[in-house]
Amino acid sequence: MAKKIRITETVLRDAHQSLLATRMKLEDMLPILPKLNAVGFNSIECWGGATFDSCLRFLNEDPWERLRTLRKEMPDARLQMLFRGQNMLGYRHYADDVLEEFVQKSVENGIDVIRIFDALNDIRNLQTAINSAKKATRGGKKPEVQVAVSYTTGEVFTTEYYVEYAKKIQEAGADSICIKDMAALLTPYKTEELVKAIKANVDLPVDLHTHYTSGLASMCLLKGIEAGADIIDTAMSPLALGTSHAPTESMVAALQGTEYDTGIDLPLLMEIREYFMGLRKKYIDEGLIDQKMLATDAGALIYQVPGGMLSNLLSQLKQAGKEDLLHEVLLEVPRVRKDAGYPPLVTPSSQIVGTQAVFNVLMGERYKTVTKEFKGVVRGEYGQTPVPIDPEFRKKIIGNAEPIDCRPADLLEPELEKLRKECAEWAESEEDVLSYAQFGQVAVKFFEKRRNEKFGIDGKHGDAEKQIHPV
Ligand code: CO
Repeated sequence: MAKKIRITETVLRDAHQSLLATRMKLEDMLPILPKLNAVGFNSIECWGGATFDSCLRFLNEDPWERLRTLRKEMPDARLQMLFRGQNMLGYRHYADDVLEEFVQKSVENGIDVIRIFDALNDIRNLQTAINSAKKATRGGKKPEVQVAVSYTTGEVFTTEYYVEYAKKIQEAGADSICIKDMAALLTPYKTEELVKAIKANVDLPVDLHTHYTSGLASMCLLKGIEAGADIIDTAMSPLALGTSHAPTESMVAALQGTEYDTGIDLPLLMEIREYFMGLRKKYIDEGLIDQKMLATDAGALIYQVPGGMLSNLLSQLKQAGKEDLLHEVLLEVPRVRKDAGYPPLVTPSSQIVGTQAVFNVLMGERYKTVTKEFKGVVRGEYGQTPVPIDPEFRKKIIGNAEPIDCRPADLLEPELEKLRKECAEWAESEEDVLSYAQFGQVAVKFFEKRRNEKFGIDGKHGDAEKQIHPV
């Protein structure tokens, strides 16, 4: 019996996040959108924390405007976003009222599929996001609520662990489930085992998301498909491989004429490829694509470092002029992770563990400097870690501060009103308030630039440097 495999195209989000630090501009996307729209992908992933951050911080783009433009230019495609549960697109936990508003606005502005994950796989951190997504509508249409399992390895991460988590995800009301292997840790036979086990226990479509870093992605996808996966995530070939995904065209070709045929038109994909080859050349010429990101590195299977994190570590070390310490930092990451209760390495825990590892190496002494965020993880501010943290280590890191064991957002008062007031001087819409909520000072700088451009001011006056909200 034929089973059509569906494809989620990641070229507008994860592919450029993995290969060029999320620097693809909207103007680079515009010419190819009509063709992407026509392919018939399951969805096109195009929005998420890093794209939002990069728009405001580096590209001087309003991320909401980007979303509305993509919506307008790809009227037939389902647009997908990646959402960090209670962290939304930012790096801390938000109160439920902000989260509900953000989910509704995302859907209203164009999102059709919301992929939600929690860095610690703590289901309590997903419930408000799931409920909000189930309530959200655009023109009477509801989004698909997809919940992702953050895949990782380590002593507690058995197949049973993932099956139990998948059951909780189904109970929580998800429409589909994603196995999110951001660090490229899946192997083909592990994928087969995992997909089979989840499909046997959970009655939801399964989407497979894995990166090419360690060179195994296409094999994992194929094994996953044979084991019952319904959807695979791929990237158009010019921005595939390396720390990105399996190439879309290759996977479509591999399945053509089989019971899994995607039904996607390969000649149309070749036209799209042509366009992205031009962009690829441009990014390489501009130095935006680092050759290291394009190489296969099975070391990921040892270091358990996702592509995005690897490029962040490299750029942090470059800034400190210590690029040569990358290997030491990569060895320190698993040690820090063990200390922190084995959090899966995905935003924000990947940044938190990564930055702490960089400090540990640069300072020449472990935990001589401890970031506020790392203290937060150890204290329980992000939720329950998969393995309890050693009380002695905790005491060393947070001193006598009280550990948190409830759902962290339960400790937060509603904060939307307060945020609205704080940025009233700058915000021109409710969407602006939500940008400000997540990126504080970075958003304010963007708003100021926008205002100055509008009124022809040189941008040198004003007090936008003033810290008015912690970022
Ligand atoms: Co990814």
